[in-house]
Amino acid sequence: MLTFAFTVFFLVVSAFAQSPRILIYSATRGFRHDSIPTAIEALQNASNTINLRFDSTEDQALFNEQNLARYDAILFLSTTGEVLDDAGKASFQKYLNSGGNFIGVHSASDTLVNATFYERELGAHFDYHADLQEATVDVVGPSHPSTDKLPRRWQIRDEWYNFKSDPRDLGAVVVLSVDESTYSDTGTRRFNQGTPHPTAWYQEHGAGTSSGGVSGRSFYTSLGHLNETWRDETFMGHVLGGIVWTLQANTTKAFNTSALVGSDESPPTPTGGQSEVSGTSDIAGTHTPSPASNDATAPIAYGTLLTIILSTLAVALYIL
Ligand SMILES: *[C@@H]1O[C@H](CO)[C@@H](O)[C@H](O)[C@H]1NC(C)=O
Ligand SMILES: *[C@@H]1O[C@H](CO)[C@@H](O)[C@H](O)[C@H]1NC(C)=O
Ligand SMILES: *[C@@H]1O[C@H](CO)[C@@H](O)[C@H](O)[C@H]1NC(C)=O
Ligand SMILES: *[C@@H]1O[C@H](CO)[C@@H](O)[C@H](O)[C@H]1NC(C)=O
Ligand SMILES: *[C@@H]1O[C@H](CO)[C@@H](O)[C@H](O)[C@H]1NC(C)=O
Repeated sequence: MLTFAFTVFFLVVSAFAQSPRILIYSATRGFRHDSIPTAIEALQNASNTINLRFDSTEDQALFNEQNLARYDAILFLSTTGEVLDDAGKASFQKYLNSGGNFIGVHSASDTLVNATFYERELGAHFDYHADLQEATVDVVGPSHPSTDKLPRRWQIRDEWYNFKSDPRDLGAVVVLSVDESTYSDTGTRRFNQGTPHPTAWYQEHGAGTSSGGVSGRSFYTSLGHLNETWRDETFMGHVLGGIVWTLQANTTKAFNTSALVGSDESPPTPTGGQSEVSGTSDIAGTHTPSPASNDATAPIAYGTLLTIILSTLAVALYIL
């Protein structure tokens, strides 16, 4: 099912002969979710069927300009607290200004609480959550790849986040909204997060970019607390739909030859090849992504070759 859902994406990627590369960052300075390794494994597993590559790290030193520039998106996975120093924040801001894309999952919204650019890029900061319990989530807003495969009313067990502001104030479009009548929240609301209750949303142009920058896309989902969630095909369809949509900003190298950041490496050979295996991550600790195994000219040559083959095929089909 997932394979089918992302065939179109795969074709687009194939046409460019490049494999989008995403950096998963899961450092924690506060609460640590024990689902982080499961989440990374689930994303790595999915990358075997979708043409994406994930690297994962908890090393803030990798938030330098040169390293970030190799990625088509940065994904904050259940991060908590002050996970970047000033240099890391500055490099991240620069990445976003250069067309870089952002994806936040679950407690990514409880991260870098005083960094305004980060709050804007994600959409809102976390305030508190209602206890872990089952509730019904409504698909709202326009049709979107992150919700296209979901039931209109989706029952799921998770923590129900409340935010310190309304992401819609920054131009975000809410795509999931938890139905407040289906769970109990004993906390006290101190902020206006707007209605319907924001649970997942996207920004066509991430609001974290400084003026004059090129804005990529941003996607955030507050779901993803439990191991079992990351083994749930419905949830995976939601998060992968959000990731794929984010990459289609066309502001990074995988889809835009004049972009300033992103991957311009050719995809790994599907079988028997010597190129990088997607999934070279050290789950709990730090991991330095291996340097590109291809020289810079290889993807261009491969892309050209592919274009020639595709054009020939198209002409042949047209004649027939
Ligand atoms: C979630 O999975 C991790 C291993 O990936 C395990 O250490 C942890 O205990 C699991 N959590 C629960 C609540 O089962
Ligand atoms: C990842 O794939 C392996 C091999 O198929 C499987 O054993 C494992 O349970 C999968 N992990 C997740 C989180 O989906
Ligand atoms: C954030 O700012 C508030 C108010 O200035 C301050 O009390 C708090 O210590 C800051 N937190 C961090 C993690 O920098
Ligand atoms: C990105 O490019 C694809 C393929 O050309 C196109 O379908 C899509 O609309 C573009 N996205 C944006 C945001 O322009
Ligand atoms: C491609 O990248 C350039 C350089 O960042 C940018 O100006 C342009 O808007 C991008 N194209 C699209 C379709 O976003």
